[in-house]
Amino acid sequence: MREKTRSGCQRAPISTPSLPPHHLMATKEQQHKKLPLFPLLSLLCFVSVFLALSLSKRASISKETTRFRPTPTVASTSCNYSHGSWIYDPNWIPNNYDSSCKEIFKGWNCISGNKSNARDIIKWRWQPNGCDLPPFDPVRFLQTFRDTNIGFVGDSLNRNMFVSLFCSLKRVSSDVKKWRPAGADRGFTFLHYNLTIAYHRTNLLARYGRWSANSNGGELESLGYKEGYRVDVDIPEGTWADAPSFHDVLIFNTGHWWWAPSKFDPVKSPMLFFENNQPLIPPVLPDVGLDKVLKHMILFAERRMRPGGIKLFRTQSPRHFEGGDWDQGGSCPRLQPLLPEKVEELFSLKNNGTNVESRLVNQHLFKALKGSTFHILDITHMSEFRADAHPATAGGKKHDDCMHWCLPGITDIWNDLFITHLNSIKARD
Ligand SMILES: *[C@@H]1O[C@H](CO)[C@@H](O)[C@H](O)[C@H]1NC(C)=O
Ligand SMILES: *[C@@H]1O[C@H](CO)[C@@H](O)[C@H](O)[C@H]1NC(C)=O
Ligand SMILES: *[C@@H]1O[C@H](CO)[C@@H](O)[C@H](O)[C@H]1NC(C)=O
Ligand SMILES: *[C@@H]1O[C@H](CO)[C@@H](O)[C@H](O)[C@H]1NC(C)=O
Repeated sequence: MREKTRSGCQRAPISTPSLPPHHLMATKEQQHKKLPLFPLLSLLCFVSVFLALSLSKRASISKETTRFRPTPTVASTSCNYSHGSWIYDPNWIPNNYDSSCKEIFKGWNCISGNKSNARDIIKWRWQPNGCDLPPFDPVRFLQTFRDTNIGFVGDSLNRNMFVSLFCSLKRVSSDVKKWRPAGADRGFTFLHYNLTIAYHRTNLLARYGRWSANSNGGELESLGYKEGYRVDVDIPEGTWADAPSFHDVLIFNTGHWWWAPSKFDPVKSPMLFFENNQPLIPPVLPDVGLDKVLKHMILFAERRMRPGGIKLFRTQSPRHFEGGDWDQGGSCPRLQPLLPEKVEELFSLKNNGTNVESRLVNQHLFKALKGSTFHILDITHMSEFRADAHPATAGGKKHDDCMHWCLPGITDIWNDLFITHLNSIKARD
C-alpha cells in the first residue's frame, strides 16, 4: 500500500510507548510540578488521559470495519490529538455522508461544484502520533446522547462543522424535525432519539450594530469618529443568549471577523467598543476588544449554562490564501496537503503572512480560557496542512473561498475529535 505522509514527525506506530518525551503521560505529581509553568499544557495532558481511556473502550465496540480500524489496544499513554500527520489512502471510505446531503451550502459542496480534487479530500486520514482518531459512529452517538441538546455558537466556520454533523446523523436517522430552538439560525431534532443540534449564528459573540456620530456630540464624536460599529463587550448577541440554558453541550468559536479584512474596516467603519453602556475611551483596537469580549462571554456562559452542561471552545480555523488576501486576488489552488515546512512558512507568527491570524487568535483564546471550565477543541494545527480542502473556485463565487471547507471534508474530522471529547467527558462523569 502506498502511503504518503505530510508531517515533520515520523509517523509513530500505533500503541508504541516510543513517543517524544513531551507526549508521555505525565504522572499526577509531574502535572502538579508543571502547573505553575505550563497550566495549559497540563490541562491538555489531563484531558488527553481521559480521551485515551475512552478510546480504548470505544474501539472494541465500534461496528465500522475498514482496513484501518485501530487495534483495540490503544496505548494507555496520553495522546495529543492535534499532533500527527495526514496519510493518503485511496481505499479509505469514511462511512458518513456524501454530496447529496441537502443541508450542505452550495458553495461548500465541492463534489457538486466539480472541484477537481473534491473526492480526494476525504481520502486523507488524520493520524495522531501515538493513538488513533477513529471516525465516530453516528448510530452509537445518537444512542449515547439521547435526550441531549447540542448547540454550535459562532460564525460560518462553526456552521460548516454543524452541517457536517447533521449530514452524518441524517444518514442514519432520517426522521427529523427542522426548527429554530432558543434563537438559533437553524436546528434539527432527531425524533427517534430526541437529540437536537442547532447552529446559533454570531460573528463576534458580543452584540454589535451600526454606529454613527450623534449630532449632539459625545466622547467618540469629539475624537472625530463619524461611522463605525458599536460592539458591546459585555452583552452576548441575542442569537445565542438563551443557548446556555437550553443546551446540554455548547461548542463556541469566534475569530474570523476580528482579523481578516472584513466589514470592520479600521478606518471607514471601525469597531467601537462599549462596556457598561459607555464607549471605551481611549478607544481600543480589535485585539484588545477581543480579549474583553472573550472574558465577558466566557463568564456569561459559565454562569448561565444549565447544571452539568459541557462547554467547549474550538480553536481558530486556518485560512489558506496565497498570493494576496481574499480581496486581493488570493487563491488556494493546491490539490494536496502542505508539507510541514510550508505550514510554518504560511502560519508562523514571525513571518506575519496573509493567514497569520490563525495562530494569533489562538493566543487570545488560550489566555482567556485559562482557569475556565471550558474544554478546548484544538483543530488548528491539523487543519493548517489542508490547503487542498477549501472550495477555492468551486461554487462560482466572485473571490476564491480559501476559508470555509468543502463538505464532506475536514470538519468531519473536527467532529470525530469533538465526539471523542464528549465521550471521554461522559465516561468520566
Ligand atoms: C499538541 O500538539 C500541538 C500541535 O503540534 C501543539 O501546538 C500543542 O502544544 C501540543 N500540546 C501538548 C499538550 O503537547
Ligand atoms: C459539474 O459537472 C457536471 C457534469 O459535467 C455538469 O452537469 C454541472 O453543471 C457541473 N456543475 C457546476 C457547478 O459546474
Ligand atoms: C427531550 O430532551 C429534552 C432535553 O434533554 C428534554 O427536556 C425532554 O424532556 C425530552 N423529551 C422527551 C419526550 O423525552
Ligand atoms: C504584519 O503585516 C501587516 C500587513 O501585511 C502589517 O500591517 C502589520 O504591521 C504587520 N505586523 C507586524 C507585527 O509586523
